[in-house]
Order: sequence, then structure tokens, then C-alpha cells
Amino acid sequence: MNPKLNKLIIDLSRSIGLRSLYFSGHPFVRDNCLQIIDDLRSLLSELESESLFIGIVEGKLIHDGHYLVGPSIMGKQLVEFTKKLHCGGLVLGKDTTIKEIEVLLDLATEWKIPIGSLQEARALLKLRGVHNIELATHYTAPSALVSQEDKVVWHGKDSGGHLHSPLLVYQALFDVVAKAHGNVSLDRSIDINGAQSVSEHLLYSTRSNFTDMLQFVHYPDYDVYTVGHSVRVSTLAVFVGDHLGLDDEQLLDLGTAGLLHDVGKSKIPSEILFKPGRLNDEEFSTIRSHASLGAEILLEHKESTRMQVAAAWGHHIRYDGGGYPAPPPWAVRSHLVALLHICDVFEALTAVRPYKPQLTPLAAFSIMLQDKGAFDPALLHAFVSTLGIYPPGNRVRLADGSQGIVVVAGSSIDKPFVQITRDKTGTAIPANEQQVLDLAKDTSGTLEVTELLFEETP
Ligand SMILES: [Fe+2]
Ligand SMILES: [Fe+2]
Repeated sequence: MNPKLNKLIIDLSRSIGLRSLYFSGHPFVRDNCLQIIDDLRSLLSELESESLFIGIVEGKLIHDGHYLVGPSIMGKQLVEFTKKLHCGGLVLGKDTTIKEIEVLLDLATEWKIPIGSLQEARALLKLRGVHNIELATHYTAPSALVSQEDKVVWHGKDSGGHLHSPLLVYQALFDVVAKAHGNVSLDRSIDINGAQSVSEHLLYSTRSNFTDMLQFVHYPDYDVYTVGHSVRVSTLAVFVGDHLGLDDEQLLDLGTAGLLHDVGKSKIPSEILFKPGRLNDEEFSTIRSHASLGAEILLEHKESTRMQVAAAWGHHIRYDGGGYPAPPPWAVRSHLVALLHICDVFEALTAVRPYKPQLTPLAAFSIMLQDKGAFDPALLHAFVSTLGIYPPGNRVRLADGSQGIVVVAGSSIDKPFVQITRDKTGTAIPANEQQVLDLAKDTSGTLEVTELLFEETP
């Protein structure tokens, strides 16, 4: 997967989301359009091509005959958009201008109902002066276009009544959080029951297919309303909570609480939330108010649980009582909120963000362990040993040169179980021949993990 293409799709999709919240020409929207043009030019010069074709087949993004796994999560808005326009994809020419991207985004936002036909959509674009972006027709025989091998990725396992692939679950989680944040920013109510039912799918997927699930957890995003952050915090919390033996009811509550814990951020003015420079004291306290604001919002919903309210309110409170907001002396710390606090900090440290480097889990653990009094020590210990320094879903390289995906933490934190996906020469191993190795059982030293691979990072 080309990281530049990856980034372009993320930026395009993010722009559609931004445009639905801000007016055309808003600095946020404009900056994103500029970014898209930059991404496009740099990608096209690398590919030595005059135009870029991003297709949609069966609701998924494709490029060059391959489904794009990661970007299809991020690119959901883009897929929805092309549906509205009745097209099978977009062709972006090398001379595409910011104005043309803006018109495209206006179309995505202004036409709430599908346009009558592809011809009509094409005519609308031309009428608005867009000449470097073309709407592609639908494929009549998509299977001929996409390699059958790649299709396997999408079908998941039969899971009776549950969403079939972890990708769909991840997408549903993403949607539910994005909608909750969008609704809060517009003073509308949140679909708490929807969040709860998605949590059920999350729990099922975490148990049956958690390696795949956690692979998506590592997918980078720069989402405006920390949507990706909330999804990842929730997934981590459910995964670790399940290992700690929490019952289903608690896990569902925990998953929902994780999805909604930062919902109060939607009430913070975006100039402060996304201010690039240093914040003054007043701005800091405004940002910190997201915790109590989130709790107030959830309290207004009768379907929300006490735990969810407590999580929104207390996820920045330290084990020693520091952090914010100041807890009253009689407050009792919930184990579940303490776990969410750990997941929240771990996610923030290991996430890809434009303003900071991505830390390895090991570096994040070491910062967290050194911050005495921040976390419940027993819980932090359990968290570290459940994830290990190479958490499930991560790609790693072994000392003999082979590569694989961590499927489960092992008996020691640096010796996980790894499914070998590439041999010593870097050649991909067919899915049905991939072996899972317990690195703790290796005594030769040739199967130590030597590197954590961030392949998908743009
Ligand atoms: Fe927060
Ligand atoms: Fe958070």
C-alpha cells in the first residue's frame, strides 16, 4: 500500500467530514483541500502518471486492482459520497485545483438526497467549472477487476448474526463515534443504544478475531474529533478487560464508555481544541472542561449508565487523585474508569499525530511506569502483561529476517506468539501455510523480535 495514496484518501475523506461541519472556505476546509492537492501532486509525480483513479467496488475502495484495506475504513465518507453521485469512482487529474476540490466537497454536503443519475452528477460538476475531476462509471464485472485472492480479506468468518468482518465492526465503531460527536456539536441527542449495540459487535470480534481487530486499532488517523482515538481506547479497554475476566455486561458498558468518553470535546471551540501553538491557562482550562461537559451530556440521556457518565467525568483523574476535574473527597474510584484512563494515555502516546512522533508500546509503558501515582499499579501491570511490548495486531521482524503479525502476548512480555507472514527472504507466505510460533519456546535466539514495523504509517 502506497503511503501517499493512503494519506490522500484519508485527507479526502476527512475533508468531506470537515465540510459537513464547517462552511465552504472555512480555514479548516481550505487547509485540507490544500493538503489534498499536495498529496495528489506528489503521488502522481511518484507514479509518473497524469491522473489518479480511485475506484469503488461493492462499497469498498480499490486502486490498481486491489482493495485498499485501511483506507476503506477511513474512506467510508468517500464511498458514501460516490454512491450519492452514482459513480464507480473518481479520476483526479494532475491539474486539479483547490477550487475544484472545494466544489466536490460542496456537492458532497449540499446534496443530501442522491442525485438522479451519473449523467446529472457529471453535468453538475461541469456546470460548476470542474474539468479536472471525472466521475467514473460503475464496473459491470467487478470480480474481473479485483484479484480473487484479495477478496478473502473481506469476508471474515461466519459469525452467526454478528458483523462478519472486523473491518465492518471497525467501520461501525467509527461511524457511531463520529455521529455522536457530530450530534453533540449540533446540540442533538446521542444514540446511546446504537453505541451499545456496536459494543456488542466489538466484544464478539475481540474474542473471535482480535488480532484482526487490533490491526485496525493501529491504523493511523488524524481525525478532527478524536474519533479514531475513542475507537481505539474502547477496543483496547474491551480487549484488556476481557483478559482480566470482566463479565459481558461490564465489558459492554466499558466498550460504550470508551466510545463516548471524549464526547465533551465536541463542545470545545475548535479554535482552542486545534490551536497549533501553546495554550494559555484559560484555554487549558477550557479544554479540560471536556470531561465534565461530557458527563453532563451523557447525564441528559436516560439510556446512559452510571459507568459511562463516570468514565466521561473521571478519565483524566490520576490514581493519586491529581489530574482533572478535582474529585470530591467521598468519590470512589471505579476500576473500569481506571482502566479507561490507562488505555486513554497509552493510546495518546502510541498514536500517530501530526504534531508528535509515534511511540512504541515499550516507550509508552516506560513513560507510564515512571509516572508514579498516575495509574493503579496492579491494573497497569495487568495492562502491560496483557498487551506485551509487541501487542497483538502489530507487525514485527524476527532476528532471522522473517516477518509476522503478533497474535497473542506470550508468557514473557517480549516473547509473543507470532504468525509468520514473510519468510527470511521477505517473500510472502500464502495464508494457508502461515505458522504461529511461540517465541518463548525458541532457545536458539534466531526468533527474537528485532523490530516493530510501522508499515502502514504514511
Ligand atoms: Fe479526554
Ligand atoms: Fe481520551
